[in-house]
Amino acid sequence: MLHLDLISTLKDLFGRFDNVRPSHAKGIFVTGSFTPTDEAKEWSTAPHFSSPSTPVLARFSLFTGIPNLPSNDPNATPHGFAVRFLIGDGAKTDIVCQSSTFFPAGTPENVLAFFKSFRDGTVEEYVKDHPEAAPFVLEEKKTAKNFGTQSFYSINAFKFVNAAGKSAIIRYRWIPLSGRHFLTQSELEAKGPNFLFDELPDIFAQGPISFKLVAQVAGEDDITDDCTKIWPEDRKLVELGVLSLTKVTDKEDLPPQKNTIVYNVDPGVQGIEPSADPIIAARSRVYATSGQTRREAEPEA
Ligand code: HEM
Repeated sequence: MLHLDLISTLKDLFGRFDNVRPSHAKGIFVTGSFTPTDEAKEWSTAPHFSSPSTPVLARFSLFTGIPNLPSNDPNATPHGFAVRFLIGDGAKTDIVCQSSTFFPAGTPENVLAFFKSFRDGTVEEYVKDHPEAAPFVLEEKKTAKNFGTQSFYSINAFKFVNAAGKSAIIRYRWIPLSGRHFLTQSELEAKGPNFLFDELPDIFAQGPISFKLVAQVAGEDDITDDCTKIWPEDRKLVELGVLSLTKVTDKEDLPPQKNTIVYNVDPGVQGIEPSADPIIAARSRVYATSGQTRREAEPEA
């Protein structure tokens, strides 16, 4: 089955480790809160767009499924940023983003073929046959000064529905309030292998890491069910709110076994729906299955 093949091929690529995410394996949980703009609730009835403030449990991560990957390894990018809005009474909704605007394939079948080409050393041939993968493969590798000095993108499109029943197709962006700052190659090489994680407590001691949440709204003729089709930069950008992250999450604030947190790409909340993008359903199934396997692999607390 496709979702199992996707997981298994990621493990072929990065290795088989118990209780570890097959992708974005190395990460760190951070805590904060989200404050919406007045405009956000005009676009969607989702609770975190009308509530004055919503607590957030987020996770920054490196790209591969290798749990001890050095922060300065070229395969550490694109970084991941998964944000869980704790909207009350045990309810939650997530946004799972990466630091590149590009993704190599627009269907789950092609994602699998792309992963396999990586595993088999035939990426060049894959890209020749699937030119839409080229921007992702050829993108210049840049490492941010810290997790909070880069933008993150949802890649997949979602549907907002407002109180009047009006809908819009959007893609999310997290824009760092501190601006975007990247390391030069020599700065990167001078850093320790765990610098992105080790430096976080000191960065928080100086103040929060903050991002604006922005929705890029699709134009009428934009393709919304293929995430390799980038929408033009002149599309409307709606500011939805500000996320302020204040600390590395205390162990006692996490469920007893932190790896049991499984982010979900399907919003599962009123006012936000998946678009027709087929990657969303595939990701939901993959993450749920992978999360279940991680749960089962865990020793009892
Ligand atoms: C069909 C396409 C994709 C597949 C098969 C896939 C696969 C996976 C898997 C297996 C995991 C680990 C899930 C877990 O054990 O909890 C994961 C996590 C993750 N993926 Fe994907 N992924 C896909 C697309 C994407 C896209 C488009 C993005 C970025 C927008 C993305 C960003 C992430 C992030 C940030 C995490 C880590 C979440 C966390 O911190 O728990 N993935 N992915």
